[in-house]
This record gives sequence, structure tokens and C-alpha cells, in this order.
Amino acid sequence: MNAPSPFFPLKDGRRCVESVPLADVARRFGTPCYVYSRGALETALDEFQTALTGADAQICYAVKANSNLAVLRVLAQRGAGFDIVSGGELQRALAIGGDPRKIVFSGVGKSADDMALALSAGILCFNVESAPELDRLDGVAASLGVRAPVGLRVNPDVDAKTHPYVSTGLKKNKFGVAYGDALDLYRRAADLPHIETLGIGCHIGSQILDPSPFAEALDRLLLLVDRLAAAGIALRHIDLGGGLGVRYRDDAEPTVKDYLEPLLDRLRGRALKILLEPGRRLVGNAGVLLTRVEYLKPGEIKNFAIVDAAMNDLARPALYDAWHEIVPVRPREAPPRLWEIVGPVCESGDFLGHGRKLALAPGDLLAIMSAGAYGMSMSSNYNTRPRAAEVMIDGDQAHLIRRRETVEELYALESLLP
Ligand code: LLP
Repeated sequence: MNAPSPFFPLKDGRRCVESVPLADVARRFGTPCYVYSRGALETALDEFQTALTGADAQICYAVKANSNLAVLRVLAQRGAGFDIVSGGELQRALAIGGDPRKIVFSGVGKSADDMALALSAGILCFNVESAPELDRLDGVAASLGVRAPVGLRVNPDVDAKTHPYVSTGLKKNKFGVAYGDALDLYRRAADLPHIETLGIGCHIGSQILDPSPFAEALDRLLLLVDRLAAAGIALRHIDLGGGLGVRYRDDAEPTVKDYLEPLLDRLRGRALKILLEPGRRLVGNAGVLLTRVEYLKPGEIKNFAIVDAAMNDLARPALYDAWHEIVPVRPREAPPRLWEIVGPVCESGDFLGHGRKLALAPGDLLAIMSAGAYGMSMSSNYNTRPRAAEVMIDGDQAHLIRRRETVEELYALESLLP
């Protein structure tokens, strides 16, 4: 099978990232290891920038998808701002020299401390999701003697037709201000002395491959924008969130242009700056998880290939039953068999792929594809497993961008009873 991107070519029977063979990466940095392609990251961002040429727009990369500093820096250097959901993500964005004026702060549970941090940094906008959050923000801004820039995240109640765990724009979801409550909340915001109402936004879910729900959501938001204008509340920007999906398998992946054109058409002639919060689409197909086969355990019912990466490294298969392509780093001529690709963690849910047709031998390296988004950022230390190393390939150079954790580091914060 082909890798999903030209940045992960098979050259002379060796799987590479850009020009670097993955076998070399494994030799130098060990496994499991996340390996990213700088070129793939930049190309993904450029696709957005090109589609937005001429529009008053700002990409705010959703840091949660992959928050490694080197990844953030590569994107910021090409003009991206950030969508953050915590003070921690804000500190990452600032640590790489990210421009606070390009940062939006999302999330249903912002703490007062995080609000203060973001206000002091001078971010572009808080995407407020409830009335009590608006009141808290007004109070925090008052205590700092500033006005907080705000956009309401409205729940448009549209079906994004994606996995229920990552669908966020339906009435039954916890996200956003209920559509019917939005007008009243804008009126209330206008009366709060330390709130400056700038915008409106929505985020309807993730891994969305059909562009139509985005347009549906936008139509609903524009209806509100017009009602607000009639009530004397003029907005300056509209934040369309993230959510554009990537190809994991044989999914028909819409181009960024397919996704954006209907949206830009609807926004033409309106004096609204456009904010976008893509996460997965920028990083998902820019990274792989490199792992080594530890043991082969053929059985009566199933054959197990036990690899050194596990659900703690890549939670998506266990959590969402997500499918990631798994390819050999050095394909063998031998006849293939069906393998369960599983990790060493003590849970039956610890799998990376079911029934994969591969010719394997112990010690083989495998690349788990499309692992750049929500891979490392959702990893854990379950089973006291040090988190994987992260490497960024830039042409023929491999850079370690996060070294593997040591076990001592994992219990360094713990103490014994006196
Ligand atoms: N903006 C907001 C407010 C979000 O909550 C998210 C993602 C994004 C932007 C970026 O969405 P994206 O463009 O990446 O779809 N862990 C799941 C995905 C969770 C998405 C959470 N919110 C997964 O591995 O599929």
C-alpha cells in the first residue's frame, strides 16, 4: 500500500521520511518514536494560506493536535497563530515566540488563572462558551483593569456526521452557547464593562470529510450576525473552528479549497475577518509512529504481533476504534499473514491495528501512518512507560525534538510517606 503522502516515500525498498530512511531514525533515536516531516507540515499550512489568498483571514492552529514546540515553531514561522485550550498551551505558544495577537482561547472550562494569563499576554480573543464564563471573564478583566476581547462560540446544532466522541456542534453536546440563547448573551456582554465583543464562532467537530455541515453551520451563524447587526451589535470576526478531516484509509479527502470555497463565497462582501482553527489537517498526515516488532505469537484463532508501541503512545485505535495504516519499513518478499498489531500494555484494548496483512519477522520496524495529530499529544505514561521520542525530518536531516523520557523522570514528582 502507498503511504498517504509524498513525504513518506518508499525508496529502494526502504520507507523514508523525506530523504531519511526510517531504519536510520530507529537506529539513532530508538523506538517507539514519532517522526514528523517538516515539508509535510509546511505544505499542509500552505494549502490553507493559498486557498485564503486575498481574504482577510488568520489560521489559528489547534495546539492540542500536536503541541511539540518545534511543530508550533514551524507553523508560526509561516504565519500561523494558535487556538489554545489551556494556560499550558498558551505558555507553549508564547515560548516559541508566537504572536499573542494571533491566539484564540477556546474551551468550556477556562480557569480564572488561565484567563488572567491570557489577558496579560494580550491574546486576540476568548471564545466564550457560557453565561457564567462571560461573567467570570468580566471579573478577571476588571481585576486587571483591562477589557477582555470576546467572541461567543455558538452551538449551531448541525450534525457533523463524524464519530460521536468528536462531534461537538449538536444541541446534546456540552459545547458552545445554545443557538437560541446567543442573542441575549450578546446583549448581556454589551452591558459588561470589561468585555469587548468582537466576534462569533463555532466548532462542529473533528475528522469531518463532508464539507456541507461547515456551510450549514456558517449559514446559521450568519443569520445571527445579521440579527445582531440589526440590534446594533456589529462583529469584527467569525471563527469557523477546525474539524477538516484527513485520509486515514481510503477516505475521500476533500481538498482545503473544496472546504473553504463555499465558506468564502458566503462571506464575500461582509466586513468580517475569518479565523480558522485547523488541527488534524495540518499535522495528521505529517507524522508516523515508528515501532519495532518485539515478538510474534501466531495462534489458533489470531496471530499477534507484539510491538514496542502501545495504546499509551497512540490512544486513537483503543479510544475511537480509529484505523491507522501500518506499513513495514522494509517490506519483505515472504508470503503475508493476518496479524493483530498489539502493544505491551496489559489491556485487551491495547491494539494498534486488527487483521493486518503483513509479512513480519521479529525485530522488523513498522510505521504507523497518519499519527501526527492526537498521537503524542494524547499519550500517557500508563504502565510506567516513558513517552516516545519525537524527531523532525527536514530534508536529509533528522532532529530530535523531544527526547525519550527516563523512568526516573516518571516518578520524580512522587514522595514516600514520612
Ligand atoms: N477548535 C476547537 C475548539 C476544538 O475543540 C478542536 C478539536 C479543534 C479546533 C481542532 O479540530 P481538528 O481540526 O483537529 O479536527 N482526539 C480526537 C480529536 C479531538 C478533537 C478535539 N477538538 C482524535 O484523535 O480524533
